[in-house]
Amino acid sequence: MISYKELGLVNTREMFAKAVSGGYAIPAFNFNNLEQLQAIIQAAAAQKSPVILQVSKGARNYANQTLLRYMAEGAVEYAKELGWEKPQIALHLDHGDSFEVCKSCVDMGFSSVMIDASHLPYEENVALTKKVVEYAHQFDVTVEAELGVLAGVEDEVSSEVSHYTRPEEVIDFTTKTGCDSLAISIGTSHGAYKFTAEQCTRDPKTGLLVPPPLAFDILKEIENKLPGFPIVLHGSSSVPQEYVEMINTYGGKMPDAVGIPEEQLRKAAASAVCKINIDSDSRLAMTAAVRKVFAEKPGEFDPRKYLGPARDEMKKVYEHKICNVLGSNGKA
Ligand code: G3H
Ligand code: 13P
Ligand code: ZN
Repeated sequence: MISYKELGLVNTREMFAKAVSGGYAIPAFNFNNLEQLQAIIQAAAAQKSPVILQVSKGARNYANQTLLRYMAEGAVEYAKELGWEKPQIALHLDHGDSFEVCKSCVDMGFSSVMIDASHLPYEENVALTKKVVEYAHQFDVTVEAELGVLAGVEDEVSSEVSHYTRPEEVIDFTTKTGCDSLAISIGTSHGAYKFTAEQCTRDPKTGLLVPPPLAFDILKEIENKLPGFPIVLHGSSSVPQEYVEMINTYGGKMPDAVGIPEEQLRKAAASAVCKINIDSDSRLAMTAAVRKVFAEKPGEFDPRKYLGPARDEMKKVYEHKICNVLGSNGKA
């Protein structure tokens, strides 16, 4: 059993409390490799933003949970080297799907876990979430739970349609489970194709897809029922069209990729939403940068020559989110 506190990590309790009262949101960025982690820490340190490093099931399969945990420990030291005296970095399990995986993360030094039982019948979601909370809280590890189902892939759980969170359930759920934060479904989804062309309108000038608005009425109802309670938004990539165009220009094929417009995320961040999950935008930046180097310098074969530019591009994305979308700069 290793406590995250020994690793210099923090749980999410204090960062969420400050974010809710301050009207901003904490960035939760997924990482799977060194370059993503470097870019996240460089951006957070430069902007003095609290940050949540997220590890998904896909990341654990790809990079190994133990290695990622040690990388996060290294990230705390790296942040200090960059001049961030008291880094506020949480290490979070994204979409944990069983008690066992949540326990193994708590035991190896994660400071926060998500138990995603949102696809189960309500009472089973309550029971599993409560079990994880009871275990995690013994070690002061915070727990995120979910009510409602996002369309698309939630790790192994996939759903064709989203089921919005039912505001009438949130008081009962949070009271019975004791969870520290609640992920909700109000129209976001995972990945780079968040809406079909049929769900969108098309901007007559640019020809680009314009997605339907998020269900802010549901968010407001939830906020009224749980004043001050930390709300989490998954699937919050904006799918920047400049990266989609770069990818398509340099040999990729991502027609009609579309995300959540930034102004909607700004509005969410100013409300009870205090954690915003972003993964796909970093993937797009990385892919665009790598494709550009491959197209322009076909003789290049030193991975540092394409992963370096990819890292720099991701850092730009993270800093932009922190400063211009979530407003978490200067809060750590
Ligand atoms: O929840 C979705 C995240 O973007 C993680 O995706 O399981 O492919 O790493 P992943
Ligand atoms: P995006 O696919 O929109 O980046 O969402 C990531 C996410 O919700 C991770 O849990
Ligand atoms: Zn998610």
